[in-house]
Amino acid sequence: MTHEDQPLGRMEDLPQSYLDDLKARNLVPLWPSLRGVLPPKIPTRQTQPTHWPYETIRPLLLQAGELTPIEKAERRVLVLANPGHGLEKMQASAAIYLGMQLLLPGEWAPSHRHTPNAVRMIVEGEGAYTTVDGEKCPMSRGDLILTPTGLWHEHGHDGDQPVIWLDVLDLPLVYYMEASYHINGNRQTVRPGRGDRAWTRAGIAPTQVFQRSDKRYPMLRYPWADTRAALMALSDDEPDLDCIQITYVNPETGDDAENILGFYALMLRPGQTLRLPARSPAAVFHQIEGQSEVRVTDRAFTLAEADTCCAPGYTEVSLHNLSTETPAFLFIADESPLHRKLGVFEVRD
Ligand SMILES: [Fe+2]
Repeated sequence: MTHEDQPLGRMEDLPQSYLDDLKARNLVPLWPSLRGVLPPKIPTRQTQPTHWPYETIRPLLLQAGELTPIEKAERRVLVLANPGHGLEKMQASAAIYLGMQLLLPGEWAPSHRHTPNAVRMIVEGEGAYTTVDGEKCPMSRGDLILTPTGLWHEHGHDGDQPVIWLDVLDLPLVYYMEASYHINGNRQTVRPGRGDRAWTRAGIAPTQVFQRSDKRYPMLRYPWADTRAALMALSDDEPDLDCIQITYVNPETGDDAENILGFYALMLRPGQTLRLPARSPAAVFHQIEGQSEVRVTDRAFTLAEADTCCAPGYTEVSLHNLSTETPAFLFIADESPLHRKLGVFEVRD
């Protein structure tokens, strides 16, 4: 018998008078809970593999548009909640919050800023925009727009159809840290130009009389057309490459685009199956184009366009393109930057 198999003392093994004495002094015995907080070899994870099909979200979100005016909602969002954490916790994983947000033509979601970092992945509709830190970022399907911690942002919509996007935030973590709050602000003054046009090619950066940008978040919008072209070029250039994936980065430093969550796009060649090793962070997969099968533990999800699913950490994930003729494209969010900063990042083969 190894010492790990050795049963430890339980609460009920202790006399009630002793437990009462501890409780009265705000003390707790560790040994009855020791295996719970430090389980052998692999962490206990509340995050369950979960699939949120877009076709089930969309009608309910449009219904929210009829039931609740934007003034009564500020943000009209249905949260993609993981049942493993309890739906009321409104979290997809330990650190990831996901929400599907609707903005109707003519609506405006007022300016605010908050401590959690956010990104939005545009799911459908044209004509809407997010103004972040005075920069007007148009929204098109597949675009990634950052609203990092502390930056003012507001949403408007000049088009004639509903616009829907997926919000990804590190809210559960920042809330757990007792550091989550927001401040409402006035409508922003929009600067001319668009930041994403300043960094149009990898390897070259805009320069003002030999001075590079020292902004922490120099690029706020990552157009899907550019990301898709980069993945296609990578695939064409390296036909033997198994994993055709890019990371969304700060173009000035190469660091992750935001501090806590990591964001990626991945292309599966026609018919390709890609096995991702078990890694410590949890991850979210959102289908931008095509149809994929995502296998997580004993679950298999068929992701149609705009579907989203999540996988707990320390779990292998297998991605399969269900089309033998066209590539499939996925947007991925995970907790890697956080795990690396904390020193707990791990890959297991
Ligand atoms: Fe916000």
